Amino acid sequence: MTDERREPTTSPPGPPVSVEPADPGRRRFFRQFAGEVLTSAAQVVGAVTELRDRSAAEASSLLGETRPAAAAQTGAAPLALSRPSEPAGDRAPTGFRTPFRFESDNVLLVIDQRKLPDALVEMPVRSASDAANAIRLMVVRGAPAIGQVAAIGLALTARIAAKSQAHTRRAILEGAADILRIARPTAINLRWAVDRLMARYREIGALSEDGEAIAVALNDEAMAIVAEATDDHGRLAEAGRAILPATGDRPLQVLTHCNTGPLACGQFGTALGVVQAAHHAELPLHVWVDETRPYLQGARLTAWELKQAGVPHTLIPDMAAGPLMARGEVDVIVVGADRIAANGDTANKVGTYTLAVLAARHGIPFYVCAPMSSVDLGTPDGAAIPIEDRPAIEVTDIRGVRIAPEGTAVRNPSFDVTPAELITAIVTEEGALRAPFGPALRDAMASREARRDEAAGAASAVAPPAPVGAAG
Ligand code: MRU
Repeated sequence: MTDERREPTTSPPGPPVSVEPADPGRRRFFRQFAGEVLTSAAQVVGAVTELRDRSAAEASSLLGETRPAAAAQTGAAPLALSRPSEPAGDRAPTGFRTPFRFESDNVLLVIDQRKLPDALVEMPVRSASDAANAIRLMVVRGAPAIGQVAAIGLALTARIAAKSQAHTRRAILEGAADILRIARPTAINLRWAVDRLMARYREIGALSEDGEAIAVALNDEAMAIVAEATDDHGRLAEAGRAILPATGDRPLQVLTHCNTGPLACGQFGTALGVVQAAHHAELPLHVWVDETRPYLQGARLTAWELKQAGVPHTLIPDMAAGPLMARGEVDVIVVGADRIAANGDTANKVGTYTLAVLAARHGIPFYVCAPMSSVDLGTPDGAAIPIEDRPAIEVTDIRGVRIAPEGTAVRNPSFDVTPAELITAIVTEEGALRAPFGPALRDAMASREARRDEAAGAASAVAPPAPVGAAG
């Protein structure tokens, strides 16, 4: 953020904003965004030099971009986006991108994932309370993404509260942190990100009068979380790619569940990041996409992302995964995680446990791909992970059409727990961890911290930290 901030705006979310690339400011953003994606994608496959030399047309195809090559050469907006009112099909929205972007210093625009794949619509987030709403309503979902949006929302509230009295600001920030932490209960990334910003706040001094310094520090912390996620997911993707089974001349058959792509994670996916990295490294592969009942993250979001990335894939009903495994049509399963307990037990989208049992039955490697921000060493095992129960309507209705008799009793646990013994490897930015997961996770956490400390040391050797207010 810069010093040219506008005055704080009110917090209720405004109407959805349609994505229109005609505006020159937005064109600039999209151009810059495409450049950033290219750079990061190149790092993932370790091909920076090669990529630098590629033509704009090749770069477009790497991004899975659908606009004509002529437009690429003229430097027009690099992402082809349709109007929200347009129906699905050939004119469905396209564009390989992150789930959010800044409209200004005070407004984050979050893609409304409830509307995909039919429409690409953005919703403004101006505060922690907007962020909590967006998370609760599933406008943004996926463990890493909700952590990032929560952090930015809290930083926006710190900005709004910059001129308040210290006691008032403390009440505002603590209240905001509380509503964010409880927006969704299972993914630990949410609490991890909020706790990290609040720790930074307390470091400055919760009763410091310098609201400006607090706002700047919380903004920096939120931006660090976003930047680290990009870096971590890139490392993770490469670590996962390196352990994919070899299948000789035939394409690797990968099965995945839910959505773990950029929409769920920021710039890079986790489990889907491994797929992206393998695809960019030109490994022939095909992905079986579980539709992921009842919320259909696989059908609506993963299929959408893979289509744009140009990765061959086939959508299957969740219950087809078992028979495919039995027929030898699955070589590896990659899934994400919402929380990994200290012993390696892993909570992820409901259906993951079933896949892990089937994978063990058929001797198929089962990889959980998640950043260390999804690891909760404070939760001893899976039994201690809170599982979110979601509304009955998600089961009784499909996109507004009721399919079950009125009044049918429903249980809708949104996540399940896969015991550590069913997991072949936990793939993180610190490498692919193997059982026993307890010590492996502790070591990986220590090495992540050491890497961060080293990076922070190097950064402060270059530029001294900005002065902050006195301790309160
Ligand atoms: O309910 P959702 O859509 O937020 O659930 C998402 C998942 O279960 C993902 O697999 C998990 O968050 C990992 S995302 C990299």
